[in-house]
Amino acid sequence: MRLFIILLLTPLFTFAQFKPDSIWYDTKGDTLNVHGGGILYDHGTYYWFGEKRGKGASEGVTVYSSSNLYKWTYEGMALSTVEGSDIESGCLMERPKVIYNKKTKQYVMWFHLELKGKGYAAARAAVAVSNKVTGPYKYLQSFRPNGNMSRDMNLFVDDDGTAYHIYSSHENWDMRIARLSDDYLSSTTQDSLLFSKQREAPALFKYHHKYYLITSGCTGWAPNKASIHEAESLFGPWKLAGNPMTGPHADITFYGQSTFILPVHGKRDAFIYIGDKWDPKNLKNSRYQWLPVTFRNDSVEIAWKDMWDLNVFK
Ligand code: DGJ
Repeated sequence: MRLFIILLLTPLFTFAQFKPDSIWYDTKGDTLNVHGGGILYDHGTYYWFGEKRGKGASEGVTVYSSSNLYKWTYEGMALSTVEGSDIESGCLMERPKVIYNKKTKQYVMWFHLELKGKGYAAARAAVAVSNKVTGPYKYLQSFRPNGNMSRDMNLFVDDDGTAYHIYSSHENWDMRIARLSDDYLSSTTQDSLLFSKQREAPALFKYHHKYYLITSGCTGWAPNKASIHEAESLFGPWKLAGNPMTGPHADITFYGQSTFILPVHGKRDAFIYIGDKWDPKNLKNSRYQWLPVTFRNDSVEIAWKDMWDLNVFK
């Protein structure tokens, strides 16, 4: 009898763990397809938005929901390709992020858009909105913020509700930040250079009144060394604080690339680093690398773990 109960409970315990690099399944048993993504916490539920990938193709933006971060339910396509528009099939929709605007009560999605047949030359930021968190989102427009090229990107909402777009510009040489308009639908002209070091894959978070920005180098789908910059103000100055990754393969970000830093709701000082381990031969097979962020006297460390759970946080 005791053995039977143990066997019955084992899957529950093994499920409640993060296993970076393993295949992750949704609640129906299908493989998660949500790459280069971001997570929004909304009314007790986490929503994970990301790139739906085919072998190489970009197939729109998917969304999954979870109440506990371990178990993800597929909610459908948040944004699908639309023929005859900027987001027709053949375009690239990368690194989507969604934030909620309290004033307009709208969910606002930004992503990196490349136009069909143009490789990575268009370098545009694109915006879509929805009244419902899971969408479907309505594509609004794409542009180069203040005329600047815009490729890898992220969004950050500060404590006062002001939102920012952090983006790789000038053929990825420059990392820039632009304050968004109050409705979050466009960039304002408060747009400035953070540093010019040929970085991409920005993931920004705030801890103890300080801002931290993890980025990668620019080597296509191949892994490289991450770095972290710190600042007292979003507009800088940003100070380089080395590579936050530690342990084996830390010099190539554990074969992955930064995507997002998720603050865990209801836990103090608890952040999850989210990276992608890209499989360029079959992008949909790319893996998720979730790792806990630790702080040593305000310096950030991210160590590889084969398996871990939320109990690592206090
Ligand atoms: C690196 C970027 O971070 C990815 O999002 C993607 O654009 C690849 N480059 C394409 O090579």
